[in-house]
Amino acid sequence: MEIGRKRVFLDSIDSTNSYAISLAEKGYPHGTIVVADKQTAGRGRHGRLWHSPPKKNIYMSIILRPHRGALRNLSLLTLMAAVAFSEAIKFKTSIPVRVKWPNDLMVFCGRDFKKVGGILSEARFIGGDLEFAIIGVGINVNSLDADFPPDLLNSAASLRMASAGDIDRDDLIEGLLVSLNKWYDTLLDGQDHLILKRWREISLTLGRDVAVTVREAHPEVIKGMAMDIDNEGRLLLSLPSGRIKRIESGDVVHLR
Ligand code: BTN
Repeated sequence: MEIGRKRVFLDSIDSTNSYAISLAEKGYPHGTIVVADKQTAGRGRHGRLWHSPPKKNIYMSIILRPHRGALRNLSLLTLMAAVAFSEAIKFKTSIPVRVKWPNDLMVFCGRDFKKVGGILSEARFIGGDLEFAIIGVGINVNSLDADFPPDLLNSAASLRMASAGDIDRDDLIEGLLVSLNKWYDTLLDGQDHLILKRWREISLTLGRDVAVTVREAHPEVIKGMAMDIDNEGRLLLSLPSGRIKRIESGDVVHLR
């Protein structure tokens, strides 16, 4: 198992992604993982904060150094990670996990699907070449209602809240690594279609009416029906005009 061969465990850190970036810059090898018990400034997508209380959840970042040219697309890397992590959670806890585009890990809890995990991929390039990529994953494992800020409770939950049992974080981390090793090899072998197929099977977004907030130069909300993802992981939205819009990055709200 290349991913997870070298492990760095920390009690507390600002962000495991930031720390993994600093280690990668110092030359730490492919497959190094950084795990913290707590983050003081965990980072989410689009510059948001990732709420990271101590000793309950998983905050992990992984350094990847693919061979030159082997990784064509960072979006696909993130979709691959979502597929791998959802499979591992199902295997270890029996809780079915679905994905909200692009990579929110969702479980059924109470009366609705809620977010239990997220993935933040970052990369450094030298010239046009990828020097390293970092996959950061945060999973709410054993948090309870009182551990969440009130404004998150409507949309976020933990695996424990969805299953009513305490979950062994170390065992789950082992499962995440086994699954990530397998699916990363699938990606490097060029078997993108297997990743896309699995992602489509567990998608909560496809086939639904959605509103997507796109944060480009001019932020806007685009409404339409989520038809599919393309081979690069972009969301294909069917607009009321009948036009198809390809969306590279954004926040999705499921309308119904
Ligand atoms: C999202 O917005 O859904 C992505 C959240 C990613 C959070 C994880 S926690 C471990 C790693 N370190 C960070 O600072 N962020 C990622």
